[in-house]
Amino acid sequence: MSAPRGGSQAGRAGAALSRLRCIACGRDAPLAGIRYACEACGDLLEVVHDLPRLRAARSPAAWRRLFDDRLAAREGPDRSGVWRYHELILPDLPASDIVSKPEGNTNLYRSPALEAVSRTADVRIKHEGENPTLSFKDRGMTTGVSFARHLGVAAVACASTGDTSAALAAYAAEVPGLRCLVVLPRDKVSLEQLSQPLASGALTLSLPTDFDGCMRILREVCQRHPLYLLNSINPLRIEGQKSIAFEIVQGLGWDAPDWIVVPVGNAGNISAIGKGLYELLEIGIIDRVPRLLGVQAEAAAPLARACREGYRERVRVEAGATVASAIRIGDPVSYDKAVREVRRSAGAFASATEQEILDAKALVDASGVYICPNSAAAVAGFLKARAGGSIAAGDRVVIVATAHGCKFSRTTIDYHAGRIPGVAPGRANRIVEIAAEARAIEQLLETEGGR
Ligand code: F0G
Repeated sequence: MSAPRGGSQAGRAGAALSRLRCIACGRDAPLAGIRYACEACGDLLEVVHDLPRLRAARSPAAWRRLFDDRLAAREGPDRSGVWRYHELILPDLPASDIVSKPEGNTNLYRSPALEAVSRTADVRIKHEGENPTLSFKDRGMTTGVSFARHLGVAAVACASTGDTSAALAAYAAEVPGLRCLVVLPRDKVSLEQLSQPLASGALTLSLPTDFDGCMRILREVCQRHPLYLLNSINPLRIEGQKSIAFEIVQGLGWDAPDWIVVPVGNAGNISAIGKGLYELLEIGIIDRVPRLLGVQAEAAAPLARACREGYRERVRVEAGATVASAIRIGDPVSYDKAVREVRRSAGAFASATEQEILDAKALVDASGVYICPNSAAAVAGFLKARAGGSIAAGDRVVIVATAHGCKFSRTTIDYHAGRIPGVAPGRANRIVEIAAEARAIEQLLETEGGR
């Protein structure tokens, strides 16, 4: 049997356990309703929970036990790697509104290959590509679409580099009568990603611009039309994405690693991971917070530049082409939140070149853990930080792989075939075209020495 959901009961008793707060001026607003920005100053909103009340509700050991007990659930919200932490995600949301597939519960792989190459004691990969739509976006979408259902909205929308749209379309498809619109930059998402909202029945728009252009246009449309915007500017999304951090520390027996390394595009995910960790710290569930390393592709690295320049000013760039197309973003929506989380964790932002990204991908892929180029940017960033000494040999490191390699099969094949301009495929594997005869294979085996 599932453990009781204490937070929901507290919610039913009356006082709201969560509110929205502006990250700049601190003005509060109720959680219920449709808001993406502060009414006073226009800055980003975040969900704030009544942490003292959560802290008083149970001892840290009792919280850990509750979440551990729920790991045994076979069905219902407790089966989800997001809703297992319901009280810390959206405590006031009734369980009956939850739309879940169920997501999360992704593997935390030990990586002997990365440990050997980097000479680091303990390196793991949290493989978020093992989610229902093959990326970490399912965690934010279960909260976003559940809340959309709670509000009773008629239509949801997002702009996307391919994974947010796949997740939104799949979750919206589970809610009868809920329309879904996705806005994609033409020729800048992979074929597999493009197929996902089509398959789920979303209205799929392809615009001749980049992600930043899609985002700008959709925000304008949302001001005039009753579309519920579910990009990570919507603070409800961030609450679900926090659960990556919760699962990482729970997967390590509630012992936080030294570093969490994350690829960064629109910067929602790293903001969410930071927020989640500090909430765990405040409730007493963990006793220290890992340092966060956010990694961008060099062609689209406003935060890495800002970090290098000491965060003197907000950096916006025009995002150039990169194999890490899901993080091809020059003007991240959650910029300020991400900077806050990285700085307070004593972390950093870095960038990786195309060559570094693809070599890192081939290294991890060849260990049987198939990751996407965006995830590989994080791996490359880790290797550089380790080589530069900011990550130490004895550190325990968790790298978040954000999507599955199968979403980017063309990039994988092009790399191995040596077809990516400017990139030398140092770890190439090859497809051997051969006659349809046993003898031909045997001959090959002999010349290859049985390889
Ligand atoms: N990795 C993958 C596979 C992504 O799809 C994204 C973002 C990121 C990393 C970066 O996460 O934006 O929270 O910093 N994809 C968004 C999308 C932009 O539309 O699918 P972030």
